[in-house]
Amino acid sequence: MALEKARRGLYFRNSFRSVEAALVERHFLPEGAGHRVKDNVRRLVTLRQGNLVDRASYEGLAPVDALFCRNVLIYFSDDSIRRAVQIFFECLAPGGYLFLGHAESLSRITDIFTPIRFQGALIYQKPLEVTQ
Ligand SMILES: C[S@@+](CC[C@H](N)C(=O)[O-])C[C@H]1O[C@@H](n2cnc3c(N)ncnc32)[C@H](O)[C@@H]1O
Repeated sequence: MALEKARRGLYFRNSFRSVEAALVERHFLPEGAGHRVKDNVRRLVTLRQGNLVDRASYEGLAPVDALFCRNVLIYFSDDSIRRAVQIFFECLAPGGYLFLGHAESLSRITDIFTPIRFQGALIYQKPLEVTQ
């Protein structure tokens, strides 16, 4: 199951193809043919199952400074994207950032975030002050 795999924290060469060696050395320990996330990092992580379009799944999480959601919204209908993104917005602290995958533009979905170009990628920021 995906959560068990994530809990093992064991990654192989392909996962590190665009990661600096120094970062791998700092946060991972070699194990067999792969590298395992160091315990001090694992302790910072909570893994749990949830449904992105169900508010109940976010209980106890808000407010967060950053939200990463990659290659998931591309499979959703526009209505479901709108729903998920509205919940992301509510969970983010003012000024917080939403990171999506390359193909996941919100331009036709919503304008509640401020799009920011950063190193060739698009990041979405929740405004510091939200006008209702
Ligand atoms: C293409 S994978 C991307 C996984 C990962 N984010 C990545 O970039 O490698 C899409 C994932 O979205 C999950 N997913 C689909 N609908 C979901 C939903 N409503 N709530 C949470 N996860 C969902 C699927 O189970 C699958 O693991």
